[in-house]
Amino acid sequence: PVLVVDFGAQYAQLIARRVREAGVFSELVPHSITAEEVAAKNPVAIILSGGPSSVYAEGAPEFDTSIFGLKIPTLGICYGFQVMARALGGTVAKTGHREYGATDATLTGNGGVLLEGTPTEQNVWMSHGDSVAEAPEGFEVLATTDATPVAAFGNADACFYGVQWHPEVKHSDHGQTIIENFLHKAAGLPADWTSGNVIEEQIAKIREQVGSARVISALSGGVDSAVSTALVHRAIGDQLTAVFVDHGLLRKGEREQVENDYVASTGVRLITVDAEETFLGHLAGVTDPETKRKIIGREFIRAFEKVQRELVDEAKAEGEPIKFLVQGTLYPDVVESGGGSGTANIKSHHNVGGLPDDLDFGLIEPLRTLFKDEVRQIGRELGIPEAIVGRQPFPGPGLGIRIIGEVTKDRLEILREADAIVREELTAAGLDQEIWQCPVVLLADVRSVGVQGDGRTYGHPVVLRPVSSEDAMTADWTRVPYETLAKISNRITNEVAEINRVTLDVTSKPPATIEWE
Ligand code: XMP
Repeated sequence: PVLVVDFGAQYAQLIARRVREAGVFSELVPHSITAEEVAAKNPVAIILSGGPSSVYAEGAPEFDTSIFGLKIPTLGICYGFQVMARALGGTVAKTGHREYGATDATLTGNGGVLLEGTPTEQNVWMSHGDSVAEAPEGFEVLATTDATPVAAFGNADACFYGVQWHPEVKHSDHGQTIIENFLHKAAGLPADWTSGNVIEEQIAKIREQVGSARVISALSGGVDSAVSTALVHRAIGDQLTAVFVDHGLLRKGEREQVENDYVASTGVRLITVDAEETFLGHLAGVTDPETKRKIIGREFIRAFEKVQRELVDEAKAEGEPIKFLVQGTLYPDVVESGGGSGTANIKSHHNVGGLPDDLDFGLIEPLRTLFKDEVRQIGRELGIPEAIVGRQPFPGPGLGIRIIGEVTKDRLEILREADAIVREELTAAGLDQEIWQCPVVLLADVRSVGVQGDGRTYGHPVVLRPVSSEDAMTADWTRVPYETLAKISNRITNEVAEINRVTLDVTSKPPATIEWE
């Protein structure tokens, strides 16, 4: 793999994704990694990410500089560029000139292999205080800016390169070219990491892991479980049974999509559990968000366990016990839980298919190394319908945490209709790519006066919460065109009798979260 060393900035995951977009497999590692650990991973290249601090700051993230002695092609970015400069004998100075945001960079000559094919003057995205004042011996300066005499450098013999700016962000005009130049031209790596190869590789691995045992999988209706289930099915066919719990908190058409379209396109053997009454029974009278989440999580596991036990008994009777459970864990989950960065538990997220203690299952997690966009691509190649693969993230507790107040069947029905209209109109307006997700929230305990026809109404408001995001950790509210908002508002107030007001949430995350509960 290409190792992306994470110095604690949010840019590291983005770099890892850009490397994969260039067709090369990448893996994130913490900056505390030692030279031996790096050597053991046998990387084909290393990229040092940006970081929040100055190399001179107290508590600045450290790095085992003997890693440079391993002679692995290396690209330093921003903080990583400065770490590299300092370790190899250059100087990093506090110039007092901060550069932040869009900056003009000028290539020296043709910019070397790293900047080859990009224009002499280009717009790059900067975010730094210190600067590299002198490149290490043996290095050529490849670009400069007004404030930074050494904005990029390279040593072609050692295959060491660095840039002060952030080529991984879309605001840097030729960022992806630079990353590809480093990978393909400087380090000589072929672009052979494709979703087709990932599928092949995973199928072989799953077959080996499972043998002739049986496997179950919990389908949530979301992208991750849909793709992991389909992938496992592709590997072992009817040794797999998928279980879908309908908790009554789903969106309009979701169950049908899973039961009809998903099954038709994948051939997965599916059992649906009707659990609406049980869930709504336990949610009656509950308004506290965390309590709702706990109840939904617990009931989900109960419903799933019940079917699981039945299947286990059946399998035992037939002499091929169930030994594995499929989970749609993604790479960001793995990185976050292994990173130990002490992120506060803001909301108790629950993932489907929590393991009961007394059942001894192994886990199959075929998406563990993948990012969401890669998972979608694999889903498409497996033939899963776009309506499922392209689906926006939807929380496990479903509409239950989008009704502010008690969750009841009637309220769910109202919200389901409004939500369907919003999804329809956003898709019709071509906004699906721009919008990460758009929760529709029913303020069920709030009423306001309206007028419709000749009559006074006293109905509920809904809140539209369209957000743009790369990873849901941070988000900004999406500037949806007024005409689209007008259409949504018109349709909802006309078509959903109990709603007489449509409002827009214009808060970023932080300080707000994406969901309201
Ligand atoms: P927040 O509201 O914390 O949401 O900004 C971040 C992302 O996570 C989704 N979300 C959940 N997903 N179970 C899930 O599987 C949950 O309990 C849950 N709560 C929030 C949310 O939709 C957004 O994409």
